[in-house]
Amino acid sequence: MAQEVRGVIAPGKDEPVRVETIVVPDPGPGEAVVRVQACGVCHTDLHYKQGGITDEFPFLLGHEAAGVVETVGDGVTDVAPGDFVILNWRAVCGRCRACLRGRPWYCFDTHNAEQKMTLANTGQELSPALGIGAFAEKTLVAAGQCTKVDPAVSPAVAGLLGCGVMAGIGAAINTGNVGRGDTVAVIGCGGVGDAAIAGSHLAGAARIIAVDIDDRKLETARTMGATHTVNSTKADPVEAIRDLTGGFGADVVIEAVGRPETYQQAFYARDLAGTVVLVGVPTPEMKLELPLLDVFGRGGALKSSWYGDCLPSRDFPMLIDLHLQGRLNLDAFVTETIRIDEVEKAFERMHHGDVLRSVVVL
Ligand code: APR
Ligand code: ZN
Ligand code: ZN
Repeated sequence: MAQEVRGVIAPGKDEPVRVETIVVPDPGPGEAVVRVQACGVCHTDLHYKQGGITDEFPFLLGHEAAGVVETVGDGVTDVAPGDFVILNWRAVCGRCRACLRGRPWYCFDTHNAEQKMTLANTGQELSPALGIGAFAEKTLVAAGQCTKVDPAVSPAVAGLLGCGVMAGIGAAINTGNVGRGDTVAVIGCGGVGDAAIAGSHLAGAARIIAVDIDDRKLETARTMGATHTVNSTKADPVEAIRDLTGGFGADVVIEAVGRPETYQQAFYARDLAGTVVLVGVPTPEMKLELPLLDVFGRGGALKSSWYGDCLPSRDFPMLIDLHLQGRLNLDAFVTETIRIDEVEKAFERMHHGDVLRSVVVL
């Protein structure tokens, strides 16, 4: 039987979000209905609301979520009712060329639920944010979007691994391949940059240099594992990073802002043959000009990290285990927990840089 629950809807471009009754169908083949317990507020939700991603309004927002599987459709074997899961927005197919070449994080054919959730009063079909839509008491997803993890973790913490925190940790441990003894610089210390710092710490980096324009962010970065901080409004970050590395530059520089000027800083702040990882998301009009001779002459690798190059089935359970063992502190990413009707206010706080993450708890 289809069910009616509450969910946060973005009705149209730049309109305030509101809580509405939505209809969640029974799961079809390969699908699951999840009772959402927590869902973090991410910049991408705000971008959906602003019409910056697609114009397929109305959206059901929310995508950094954890909860309990309630029912599954035909053919679902990997998860069962009662399982505690983190939702992911890259349910890989296992059959495309990227999957077959052993690089499923580049999968070309990721799956979302086939059926649509609808608005109860108008019957309008909803577009779930990143194929998830989890600012809702229940949501319908593809079963492959559910990754089972140890239920001892708090749902608010677990949900964050579903997006921004995984993106940052993965930028360090998967894309950047940070290793024991490395020097890492992270430019931009919001939720994603702080997660890159925590990931670098986890990977055994010897020095972690945090760069931001806001001293408050640098203080938090220290608690995440940064050993040095640079306020780039007060000092040239490239010179500061060189000074801290005997004149060489960092082995790995992670750009977590998504702007040409910070990418350029990252490019010049790395050691010869070092790696630059772009995890900040640029806008379509942004352009970068670099002397090609510098690209050639400095060697190394220029990489981008999409969703932290993660494989949810491999990375989520491992990171939750490390958190439960006290080796990775994910609690610090939850600034506040809020109710489902407080998402609009949370967007404002996020916009002003007041929070790492507000998490809706259901
Ligand atoms: N130099 C250094 N830091 C900067 C600069 C700059 N020129 N401009 C902004 N920042 C800092 C901000 O002060 C803030 O601490 O970058 C940080 C950005 O953090 P958030 O706005 O909280 O964003 P976050 O969620 O961390 O995401 C960062 O990664 O996934 C992408 O879409 C996301 O592009 C975004 C980026
Ligand atoms: Zn695939
Ligand atoms: Zn997100």
